[in-house]
Amino acid sequence: MMPSTLHDSHLLQLSEFVAEKIGLYFPRERWDDLKRGLAAASQEIGFKSPEACMEWLLTSTPEKAHLQILASHLTIGETYFFRDKPLLEALTQHILPGLISKNRSREQRLRFWCAGCCSGEEAYTLAILLHQLLPDLRDWQITITATDINLRFLEKATKGFYSEWSFRNAPTWLKKRYFQPYADGRYALIPEIKQLVNFGHLNLVEDAYPSLANNTNAMDLVFCRNVLMYFSPTQTQKVISNLSKSIIEGGWLLVSPSEASKALFPQFRSVHYPGAILFQKNHPSITNPSRPSTAITHPPFAASADKAYIPRPFKPTAVAAFQPISVKANDPSAMLALAQSLYTQGNYAEVADTLCEMINQKAPRHSYLEAFSLLARAFANLGRLKDALLCCDRWIAADKIDAAAYYMRALVLMERGDVKQAQTSFQQAIFLRPNFVQAYFSLGSIAHHCGKTAEACKHFSIAQRLLITYAPEEVLPESDNLTAGQLTDIINAMPIMETVS
Ligand SMILES: C[S@@+](CC[C@H](N)C(=O)[O-])C[C@H]1O[C@@H](n2cnc3c(N)ncnc32)[C@H](O)[C@@H]1O
Repeated sequence: MMPSTLHDSHLLQLSEFVAEKIGLYFPRERWDDLKRGLAAASQEIGFKSPEACMEWLLTSTPEKAHLQILASHLTIGETYFFRDKPLLEALTQHILPGLISKNRSREQRLRFWCAGCCSGEEAYTLAILLHQLLPDLRDWQITITATDINLRFLEKATKGFYSEWSFRNAPTWLKKRYFQPYADGRYALIPEIKQLVNFGHLNLVEDAYPSLANNTNAMDLVFCRNVLMYFSPTQTQKVISNLSKSIIEGGWLLVSPSEASKALFPQFRSVHYPGAILFQKNHPSITNPSRPSTAITHPPFAASADKAYIPRPFKPTAVAAFQPISVKANDPSAMLALAQSLYTQGNYAEVADTLCEMINQKAPRHSYLEAFSLLARAFANLGRLKDALLCCDRWIAADKIDAAAYYMRALVLMERGDVKQAQTSFQQAIFLRPNFVQAYFSLGSIAHHCGKTAEACKHFSIAQRLLITYAPEEVLPESDNLTAGQLTDIINAMPIMETVS
């Protein structure tokens, strides 16, 4: 029998449970929040008391859906449009103009990620700023990925309806220019801005990133504001290290002023603006001014001509600092293992060096194919999409019936904004592997984004049916660690699926 009040020992148990099962951190100072969240969740799940709910949580195996309910009551949804004026000043005066001018002469592509986006106000603020800074926005390929652990927040974000409270600090022109009044007193964001942001479920502590599959790679700028403060020191370190891998060299990480402790961000240099500190990922010109630009002049694997990747000579001593194993340049499996390890550490340029070197030598076919798969991902994480595409094409040329190769090609094409070709490639992947859940999910997402609701529901429903054949905790192939249960929850929580019986 549980006692009628929650004692410290119970709260300790509950906080450990929540950390293990959901990845949320509740130190003793936040136990009041934990109690409040438990009370609200217990009501929603249908328990008579929080104590009964806690006993059930700790002694049975709650379903993912119940954990989602608990998570939704334990996360804090404090956010609003145009939050943190000094930071937005720095963004609009310096950072965004810098990124725009750097990319204008190139592929006109910019990638942003709002990690811990809550109900969308932050991501839409960014979209509005870009709309104002880029008169030729249509000619740009802008990606704004916005993710959160709380599916309810994401549902609200996707719908794009906001009450006065979300505008509490916003400039007066905002509502007039970018919103339409709605009958119930709320304001609806105009579609032109809404369609710039893609929302998705992602737990920063548990889930895999960077990943092409969830569009969290090769970011120019990542917002992770007022989120790190809820993590344990170990979780914070892990999240910052992973976020750093999602950012290209010279890209930016934005946290809130209270989170901007220099010691936490060794991979970044801090840049000070009035009232704001921003973090820039080691720019090549700062950290490695002597990075060689020519080494192998005419390799059999020649990356794309413009913005070409020029492999450096393979230097076992240089990489020994990352992985203390001795690797012979002519030993493909050792080179692959080294490349895998470098990839895990986020050293994508070194992965590319190692694998280009390997590919340029004779290697057994299976190593060769594996190398193309890893090299494509490394190039994509470096933002070198032409090279990533070239890798996929070489991979397909070497193995024309590998569904994974077509799927990877489709993801790269999506990132380049080549939606039509991407659709064809996803379909080819499905042709070769008819139960390719991820490919159906991607096709559904494309249709949904294009406003083709019936087509989107059809693809998502097929994905749902295929997902039943997996155990919930089973990791889906080609998914970067997404489990069948997680993808099921994501699809089930989509507002458009409410109409599908
Ligand atoms: C206080 S809000 C910040 C929202 C926004 N970034 C801002 O600054 O206005 C914190 C957000 O982080 C999300 N969050 C908390 N833990 C998370 C986790 N492990 N993974 C992803 N999001 C998380 C919460 O759901 C919540 O939406």
